[in-house]
Amino acid sequence: GFEPRVFSGVQPTGNLHLGNYLGAIKQFVKLQDSFPCLYCVVDLHAITVPQNPVELENAIRDIAAAYLAAGIDPKKHIIFNQSRVRQHTELAWIFNCIARMGWLNRMTQFKEKAGKDREAASVGLFAYPSLMAADILLYRATHVPVGDDQKQHIELTRDIAQKFNNDYSDRIAELGVGVEMKVGDETVNGFFPLTEPLIGGEAPRIMSLRDGTKKMSKSDPSDLSRIALKDDADTIAKKIRKAKTDTEPLPDTVEALAGRPEAENLVSIYAALSGTTRSRVIEEFAGKQFSVFKPALADLAVEQIAPITAEMRRYSSDPGHIDAILRDGGERASEIAEKNMVHVRDIMGL
Ligand code: ADP
Ligand code: NA
Repeated sequence: GFEPRVFSGVQPTGNLHLGNYLGAIKQFVKLQDSFPCLYCVVDLHAITVPQNPVELENAIRDIAAAYLAAGIDPKKHIIFNQSRVRQHTELAWIFNCIARMGWLNRMTQFKEKAGKDREAASVGLFAYPSLMAADILLYRATHVPVGDDQKQHIELTRDIAQKFNNDYSDRIAELGVGVEMKVGDETVNGFFPLTEPLIGGEAPRIMSLRDGTKKMSKSDPSDLSRIALKDDADTIAKKIRKAKTDTEPLPDTVEALAGRPEAENLVSIYAALSGTTRSRVIEEFAGKQFSVFKPALADLAVEQIAPITAEMRRYSSDPGHIDAILRDGGERASEIAEKNMVHVRDIMGL
């Protein structure tokens, strides 16, 4: 089998929020004890929609600061930004030629992000999943910690890997660069692994605080919809106080949260922040009103987030230090990337 390796990324598009932390970054930190990890600031994904260059530069450093502040060790693991490693775009082009139009046409994120006027969306926004597959497979990563919204893109990554392995199976065998792997009942010799998503425990999908049917997102126009990692304690408390809920007290079973998306979301956030399960939270707060639960949640959120915010500020006050970490990470990532690309070019006859 393939050597286990973790890859994941966050887009430098500002407004880093609690969903990004609980769904992704908190898992990144945990995984570094068990796997070699690459954590990328995916700046080439950010430019699929218009970006202000000065803001983009700062947003790249912000995500790197968040990785560091959350506790990722840049000496043991690799923190870098995507555009510094040219092989991402090279492999993305190759994958554009492997992936089928029909596969990309099925991607729901494109439909959401492109909105009503699909004709006006960039080609990059449409091809984004090929680039994401390249990000992951460039390092032959076996595991990708992500939020629930990325599940479909990871499935596409597996489809691309599998088609590449099939299309070039003879060459892969001839060159002896494949790895034995199980696909169903068969053992095949593939160049790329079939990467597994690791979808975040009690918080796979944090919802908006204003609308329990929409995910918490960087691009929601309402600032009250998300807790930003840069919010201070008062702002966090205010946003939780103003979070939309129904008027019923909390139930005494998790099952009874069904059909109450806002209540369910706040309970999930509490569980994820405290590292317990939703049933433990329900046990503690059964029958309590939101006037009791919300202040407890606010205290917990502040306790967990404030230290990260403070560390982010500390890192952000020294951009030269962040740039040096990204440069070093980029060099180490490039080495792995080029080793794999030499084989990819060989396999394809390029
Ligand atoms: P966003 O979707 O907020 O624009 P990204 O696309 O950069 O952010 O996603 C970064 C990571 O955060 C991904 O792994 C994504 O699945 C995760 N993520 C984003 N929003 C949420 C959410 N509301 N709940 C859980 N995880 C999320
Ligand atoms: Na996302």
